[in-house]
Amino acid sequence: MKNPFLISGYSGPVYFCDREEETGHIIRNIENGVNTTLLSIRRIGKTGLIRHVFYKIEDQKKAFCVYIDLYATQNMNDFMNEFATTLAKKFPEKKSIGKKLMHLLKGLRPLIQFNGLTGEPEISFEFTQESQITYSLQSLFAFLENQNIQIVIAFDEFQQINEYPEKNTEAVLRTIIQTLKNIQFIFSGSSKHLLIDIFNNSKRPFFASTQAIQLGFIPDDKYVPYIKAHFEQNKKEISEEAISFILKWTKSHTYYTQVVCNRVFSFPNKKIILQDVYRACNQLLKEQEIVFFQYRNLLTTGQWNVLKAIAKEGNVYQILEKRFVQKYNLGSTSSIQRSVAALVKKEMIYEEQEERGSFYAVYDCFLSRWLEK
Ligand SMILES: Nc1ncnc2c1ncn2[C@@H]1O[C@H](COP(=O)(O)OP(=O)(O)OP(=O)(O)O)[C@@H](O)[C@H]1O
Ligand SMILES: [Mg+2]
Repeated sequence: MKNPFLISGYSGPVYFCDREEETGHIIRNIENGVNTTLLSIRRIGKTGLIRHVFYKIEDQKKAFCVYIDLYATQNMNDFMNEFATTLAKKFPEKKSIGKKLMHLLKGLRPLIQFNGLTGEPEISFEFTQESQITYSLQSLFAFLENQNIQIVIAFDEFQQINEYPEKNTEAVLRTIIQTLKNIQFIFSGSSKHLLIDIFNNSKRPFFASTQAIQLGFIPDDKYVPYIKAHFEQNKKEISEEAISFILKWTKSHTYYTQVVCNRVFSFPNKKIILQDVYRACNQLLKEQEIVFFQYRNLLTTGQWNVLKAIAKEGNVYQILEKRFVQKYNLGSTSSIQRSVAALVKKEMIYEEQEERGSFYAVYDCFLSRWLEK
């Protein structure tokens, strides 16, 4: 029996909860020639949503979808390698487009290797000048544009381009993207400030060129029946009480909810009750303990104390408020500010906007629960 609660990847709509509105929104954007920016804190389900949208589009043969993960790229050369390799996989040489694509790529003098296991091509370039990269990018996009097919390209972890030593990446991409008619884009990423800066800063070239979608938590009225149904479809049961505890404990954060559900589903019991969930949560925290102790060594005492205080408090709206500072004995305003900045940079905590203001919370839900104890 397959565990229906995925903790990585995408396996089709059956294992995907809700996101109907967002899926519809992105597909409408694509159909109307509007590029989309997808933003959220980590592990909420951006990549899953892109996969889901692509599944639907390709299922209805509306367009060819190309997914590119920029997470590991450090510069424009890496960007090109990733882009070219993904395209070569998407359009294999057996097809006529693939043949033409390979012809074009070879003209750009790459190193082409074939993965020993999958037989798929891996393409890498060794550009010595930025102008070569720009030229190659332009040729690749022009080639795609001229195939007279609809193409959707998702650049995931797009904020990564801020790390590139080349400072004109945005401008180069913007200039190319502006002219394309047959290619739509999804830009996705999790460092909210960086992405918002790329797209909303009027001095920067991507200004006003896309529509932003902020991905939030899956609402309980969608998640509860989804969890229940997956147990029932596998001739198991889970109590309402158990489900609501899971969602409360994980604060409905998608990845953590999936992990806890995956664990309780793996128990041999036919019926899962609250006690089973407690046991699963304790197991999960215990398993992560080594990593959590490791964090402690990597942070200063000040940072660790601020982190612990935020975990204990839940969402902290006023981090410098006297009551909060005194309760946790956090020291001077300037040292708290420094710690908060460092923790945000290390992605240990995040800042989120809400109607009543912005708040800080611990990123990793399990770490947060462990620190509370
Ligand atoms: N709608 C969904 N229903 C069920 N599981 C989901 C859903 N969306 C995402 N998941 C699962 O949650 C986990 C996190 O999702 P995903 O990797 O898409 O998040 P992300 O926002 O891209 O995270 P990151 O910012 O770290 O890249 C994955 O294991 C994925 O399988
Ligand atoms: Mg992702």
